[in-house]
Amino acid sequence: MEPLRRDTPEPFTLVIFGASGDLAARKLLPAVHRLFQQGLLPERFAVVGFARTEMAEALFRDQAGIDVARFSPPGRAERRTWADFARNLHYHAGRYDDPASFASLRGRLDALAAAPNRLFYLATPPTVIAPIVEQLSAAGLSRPAEGKGWARLIVEKPFGRDLASARTLNALVQAAFPENQVFRIDHYLGKETVQNILVFRFANALFEPLWNHKYVDHVQITVAETVGVEQRGAYYDQAGALRDMVQNHLMHLVSLVGMEAPNTLDPDAVRNEKVKVLKALRLIPTCAIGERVVRAQYAAGEGVPGYREEPGVAPDSRTETCVALKTYVDNWRWADVPFYLRTGKRLPARVTEIGIHFKPVPQVLFNAAPFGPMAPNVLALRIQPNEGISLQFQVKRPGAGVRIEPFKMDFGYEEAFGGEPPEAYERLLLDAALGDPTLFTRSDEVEAAWAFVTPLLDACAGAEVTTYPAGTWGPREADAMLEADGRRWTVFRRRAPRKA
Ligand code: BG6
Repeated sequence: MEPLRRDTPEPFTLVIFGASGDLAARKLLPAVHRLFQQGLLPERFAVVGFARTEMAEALFRDQAGIDVARFSPPGRAERRTWADFARNLHYHAGRYDDPASFASLRGRLDALAAAPNRLFYLATPPTVIAPIVEQLSAAGLSRPAEGKGWARLIVEKPFGRDLASARTLNALVQAAFPENQVFRIDHYLGKETVQNILVFRFANALFEPLWNHKYVDHVQITVAETVGVEQRGAYYDQAGALRDMVQNHLMHLVSLVGMEAPNTLDPDAVRNEKVKVLKALRLIPTCAIGERVVRAQYAAGEGVPGYREEPGVAPDSRTETCVALKTYVDNWRWADVPFYLRTGKRLPARVTEIGIHFKPVPQVLFNAAPFGPMAPNVLALRIQPNEGISLQFQVKRPGAGVRIEPFKMDFGYEEAFGGEPPEAYERLLLDAALGDPTLFTRSDEVEAAWAFVTPLLDACAGAEVTTYPAGTWGPREADAMLEADGRRWTVFRRRAPRKA
């Protein structure tokens, strides 16, 4: 999707609400700094950090320097100095529901040279989204200043906590900002390999004819993490894996794998096709463990506490840290092809992978005794780490007689193009500044994703969860769910290429 890349954006000011928080420190400030380093920002730009804490501007800049040094990807050479960057950083202390704080913010923005284009980034807890949007609107900041330039809003996930609250939030946001100026961010869409799904599918003649129920047996999507809930226990305990990962990241992966080819790369053409997939997802209105869903919590493992012992988590919590589910995309292309999705924390590896498992060849000749049964072909899209694509097929082992073995043909981004792919937030911030919403979630898309997840959340409200020891591949019941269908979970992890 690189041809979409255009020039540098027009001069603009980025206002980060929640500027003293984790996301700003770990992701946003390093991403803006990196864009600056690469010369991708306009000459006139400014960043205004907005947060509740009273703090001198100099202190904000110093802290930003520490955060950027700590959280920037290693080994990226600096072309421009920190001082050049830091002079564009500003700080504005204020309360999220206080008209005076927003009136003074407005004055501040008007005075900055980068006016009149404004990009408001809500890197805040979801509870303060509504007051901030209301205050922006009341202060006249949600529309272009005197009709000149633009005012855009970036909203972090979670966007609502079920279908009803997402609708309410959409209505509130759209009352202040026109939909084409609202950028609901999901950092998975900024990942290079996620963007590549479309290119891989629709720029190659080879796979698309096979990409349907005639040839695909099932699809697996695994999003595994080794980390626990870390310092986010209080947030996570109210969310769980369904809200934190499935409703957003996994739904985007499902829709990119499942969608029809859009006619153009126009943002709405792409998103129209994605929404159709979400709307075709078969609902899971049951929480019966193992039928179509398994929810589980990590128990203590080697050297790590169990979920219920984590700070901020209720000792009798029933929030799931791992979920596995089985659904279908009920349309012509995917009729009766199961989509198995799983995600979890404290699993043995950090791996995000999509596996397209093809149907077996007929059970004659090789796929029968004495040679078979043989493993069917699998195409694995490795989203992270060791980003790439591998295709498993059968080959004859050299030598007398016929011995058949599965072999993996592999493509790795790092070997092919060198270096790590760019950080998702860099790409997404730049796209928002350029006004390109393709990689952001549209209002109907977010609602369609909630429409799938909400019946499951409702069915599971208050239900027991099963457990798995930290550091294992989740609960037994998740394996059993696939075994009952004659299948098993597979990931095609690959070692990082050796550095020269
Ligand atoms: C976030 C979730 O959206 O994604 C986190 O809130 C999760 O719980 C993270 O750890 C995973 O992102 P990544 O890029 O590390 O796969």
